[in-house]
Amino acid sequence: MGKTYGKIIGWGAYTPDNIVTNHDMAEEYNTSHDWIVQRTGIAERRFARPGETTRQMAVSAGQKALDTAGISAADLDLIIVTTTSPDFMAPALSSQVQASLGANDVPAFQLMTGCSGFVYSLATAYQFIESGAYGTILVIAAEFMSRYIGSADRSAAILFGDAAGAVVIQATDEPCGLKGFELGSDGSQGHNLVISMGESHEIDEVWPTNGHKYQTHMNGREVFKFATRVVGRSCYKTLMKAGMTLDDIDWILPHQANLRIIQSASREMGIPLEKFLINIERYANTSAASVPLLMVENLENGTIKPSDTVLMVAFGAGLTWGSAIVQLQPS
Ligand code: COA
Repeated sequence: MGKTYGKIIGWGAYTPDNIVTNHDMAEEYNTSHDWIVQRTGIAERRFARPGETTRQMAVSAGQKALDTAGISAADLDLIIVTTTSPDFMAPALSSQVQASLGANDVPAFQLMTGCSGFVYSLATAYQFIESGAYGTILVIAAEFMSRYIGSADRSAAILFGDAAGAVVIQATDEPCGLKGFELGSDGSQGHNLVISMGESHEIDEVWPTNGHKYQTHMNGREVFKFATRVVGRSCYKTLMKAGMTLDDIDWILPHQANLRIIQSASREMGIPLEKFLINIERYANTSAASVPLLMVENLENGTIKPSDTVLMVAFGAGLTWGSAIVQLQPS
């Protein structure tokens, strides 16, 4: 029997219609539009409206991915949902999504690795596909980051937004799919990006929770330094593993955390900024949803062709990172 590959047959994204500009945040957070644009590249973000949930966003993106794939939930063999901002600790968001989509009895699990969640989930999904264990997998990243903003200081509050993105991967014998990946974690730096649940004793020694339900703490400078180190390094490791060079890559899809991090990666890797897809100005950092939202938007507007090969790279809480090279469909 020949090798099994995975092609991306469907994609979809959801963003709340509630646009929050830098000007909208200026007074409450003692900041300004100019500071935010200069230091991050962000002009606006979407916040879920009262009553909206992570589940709704995930289901909306997931259903769109099923629709573009032309399949129904009954055709799925596995659902992986990644989030750092679920509505409940239990049941997992993945099981809620499975029920809402009507994917009866389909196995579903949630994966949490901060903003690297989509790259981790995609790499995981491909292991199931390539081993022959499952034929059709829905991967969803959904984030309701605005629910944490109340306890954040101004440097973190202006960074995040809400969104969901999803893809459907299906087994095929035509060469395409995952060409290489690299995942990593450095838990010793975990205290630099924390969302505590009000009782997290270990973290309390570094960051007091002050009795808040959630308490967000970010050491922006340290995360920035980590990100600029890890992005180029991880991309090169993945290129080496894949036996490919940057010439084989049509687009780089970087996690949208800060435009200056992307610019720094472009300089360090010696790649023109035009090769990096960017939408941070409109959505800010939507955590794990950032890379799939970017991919879906650029598939929908025709910038990414389905047969293109993309290099995704993300980093986030953990601290974690991951990169993956994927040829979405056979050429
Ligand atoms: N508006 C105005 N001033 C702000 C501000 C805001 N929103 N946030 C911070 N400042 C101020 C600080 O108080 C500081 O003032 P001081 O010099 O008087 O003390 C000054 O700006 C510089 O702060 P600093 O933290 O050095 O800014 P920076 O250039 O590093 O930018 C971040 C801050 C958060 C934008 C930047 O560090 C960053 O993006 N880090 C990575 C964060 C990230 O990606 N997190 C998610 C990872 S998944």
